[in-house]
Amino acid sequence: MNKKRFIGRLEYFGSLLFDSERKEYIPFDQDATSILFNISNFKDIDEIYYRYFSTKFNYLNYKSFIQLAQYLDIIKEDYTLNVDFLVNENIELLNEYRILSAPLKVYFALTYSCPLKCKHCFSNSGDIEKSLIKQELSTDKIKTILKELKELGVYYISFGGGEPFDKNNFIEILKYANELNLVIFISTSLVNFDKYYEEIINNNIKIKEFKVSIDAVSSRDYINIKGKSYFDKFKNNLKLLQNYKEINKELTIRFHFVLNKLNYNDLPAFLNFAEQYQADKLSFSPIFITGRASKDLALSNEILKKIDNIINTMKERTRIEIEFFNVPLEVGKTGLYTGFGCGCGKTVCYISPYGDVLPSGMFINYKEQFSYGNLKNSSFKDIWLNTHLKEINNIDEYDNRCKECEYFDNCRGGCRFRSFNEFKSLLYKDPTCYIKN
Ligand SMILES: C[S@@+](CC[C@H](N)C(=O)[O-])C[C@H]1O[C@@H](n2cnc3c(N)ncnc32)[C@H](O)[C@@H]1O
Ligand code: SF4
Ligand code: SF4
Repeated sequence: MNKKRFIGRLEYFGSLLFDSERKEYIPFDQDATSILFNISNFKDIDEIYYRYFSTKFNYLNYKSFIQLAQYLDIIKEDYTLNVDFLVNENIELLNEYRILSAPLKVYFALTYSCPLKCKHCFSNSGDIEKSLIKQELSTDKIKTILKELKELGVYYISFGGGEPFDKNNFIEILKYANELNLVIFISTSLVNFDKYYEEIINNNIKIKEFKVSIDAVSSRDYINIKGKSYFDKFKNNLKLLQNYKEINKELTIRFHFVLNKLNYNDLPAFLNFAEQYQADKLSFSPIFITGRASKDLALSNEILKKIDNIINTMKERTRIEIEFFNVPLEVGKTGLYTGFGCGCGKTVCYISPYGDVLPSGMFINYKEQFSYGNLKNSSFKDIWLNTHLKEINNIDEYDNRCKECEYFDNCRGGCRFRSFNEFKSLLYKDPTCYIKN
């Protein structure tokens, strides 16, 4: 059978098509999905219109949709459908709970091992005992999970850890993810990248994005924040990453900074550094106080407001795309994400090195309460559907301050982890929100 360009997932709102060339998800509503389904049965588009849609919308709108779908290559010139729809036997459950059939992106932490020991590390990664490494998922198990994710139509996989380059057989895992046509993101400190650089190039491994944790741009601050004196090695590896981009032109290089008391004054230097090393994107996240991150590193809401202003000024004077992950959350602004607010457990989720599935990595420190299941003994699909019977996806009682807020549609109370971390409840306003007291 010929492979089709688009893979379709049936969803409660209609469907989601993954474009395997442009590596993007495209949402369609119920009517559009129904047109696509009918086209796969009969190719006579007039017959389809008069049979099913003439009472719903006028012919010109119908034809415009078909033309648009042809332009996007979803429908071929001869009206064959260029979509393989995945079978979904749980559509009634999805409709009832208004949940996605599977996440759009999975953050897959492969190991807790790491050459660094950052002061802020939420996952307490670093040197770990051999006996603990043995409890981590094996290469074969990781491959099985990746295969299942692909079968569910989850195409975005972000590998992290700990340090993903410390994971045994990481290159083999990347090669397999490439064979499955998954879109690979890597979250890394880059410290060990030089050991694998040639193998990545020789195996023609395609990576969509390198998200490189920087956090400090001087040798002194690097040791202080990241715990080891690897700043020069790290800078050399940044050069290797630039070389790799010469070969893999589709790569996005994202520099990421966790802002905390020790480094927030260095924002202008961070931008200069990103420009010097030709980053495509720059992102900042306020520190989450969990794991190794202690309260004395936290930023007050007053400081966060100042940071927001500084970052807005920076955006005006650079070609680099800058994001600041704070409240009001922006995620709900674009079509597909509207109404989700914080995507954790809804559009994204996290797999721990031991195979636990959680809404996000931050919840790892509340594993007893938030692990929805373990992939060593359950399938991802069973865990995901079960997840939606739990609290985080069924929040309809929001903090009154949020319900009355102009940003509510996008933000929906901000980060649910921060609400839980501070108040031991998922229902409060994100405590870092300075929009309302
Ligand atoms: C745990 S790290 C693992 C990947 C890799 N070792 C790295 O540092 O990029 C995953 C991401 O979480 C971020 N991170 C770690 N601790 C954090 C914290 N307390 N608050 C916010 N982000 C944090 C890191 O900057 C990184 O982008
Ligand atoms: S934040 Fe990343 S680099 Fe730093 S200790 Fe944690 S896992 Fe390692
Ligand atoms: S009040 Fe609530 S909805 Fe409004 S910005 Fe703050 S956290 Fe978001």
